[in-house]
Amino acid sequence: MSHNGTPVIQVRGVTRELPLGKTVVNALRGVDLDVQRGELVSIVGPSGSGKSTLLGLIGGLDTPTHGTVAIDGVDISRMSEDRLTEIRNEKIGFIFQFFNLMPTLTALENVALPIQFARKRKFKPDKRARELLEQLGMGDRLNHRPSELSGGQQQRVAIARALANDPPLLLADEPTGNLDQESGLMVIEALKQIRQQSNTTIVIVTHDRHLADQTDRVIELIDGRIA
Ligand SMILES: Nc1ncnc2c1ncn2[C@@H]1O[C@H](COP(=O)(O)OP(=O)(O)O)[C@@H](O)[C@H]1O
Ligand SMILES: [Mg+2]
Repeated sequence: MSHNGTPVIQVRGVTRELPLGKTVVNALRGVDLDVQRGELVSIVGPSGSGKSTLLGLIGGLDTPTHGTVAIDGVDISRMSEDRLTEIRNEKIGFIFQFFNLMPTLTALENVALPIQFARKRKFKPDKRARELLEQLGMGDRLNHRPSELSGGQQQRVAIARALANDPPLLLADEPTGNLDQESGLMVIEALKQIRQQSNTTIVIVTHDRHLADQTDRVIELIDGRIA
């Protein structure tokens, strides 16, 4: 389904200056970007080109030095930390290269956790967690802990966790960066399946050409600017 309304992501004139000792690193040097609802977009570029910095700004994990970032039409670039936390919890699911699962919790518990913490709870935690894990082919691993799962399986748990509260926006930083080729393919398939079954907007930072090739649009960052 395509909507012609407000873009889910609107980045305008964004710079990010990071202090480094007595100097400053210009991690982003003026970025403009729109992403429409339901798009599957990849961000590629050399190491150090600002990909993670940009994703962090889109996800409200960081704020820009100059410029604005709007999510669903709401400017988040000057928000208080409390409101940012709220926006992140309600609107954004994160997937990281190293999965970042809770080691003492089972797959089911890891996915149920963000539902238990949601301020406006839309789902029954265990039921929703089970359904998501089943959809991702993890139905027979519900009670395994992360150390008892392969990298690809852990990443599928992390994807289920990111989807737990049905966020409109899914952000992934190098989701296949720590996986062998076969596990990487499964993760790509899972992301494409999510894209087909829902109106979720997905932005993926990746070095993986194969993954980028399967997205609707490839955005290349070079030295803090869109190429
Ligand atoms: N916390 C930080 N402090 C200082 N410089 C940083 C910090 N994080 C990243 N940088 C620098 O900002 C630039 C962009 O980094 P990053 O967004 O992580 O790039 P990428 O994800 O494309 O590899 C790099 O030059 C990096 O060294
Ligand atoms: Mg990075």
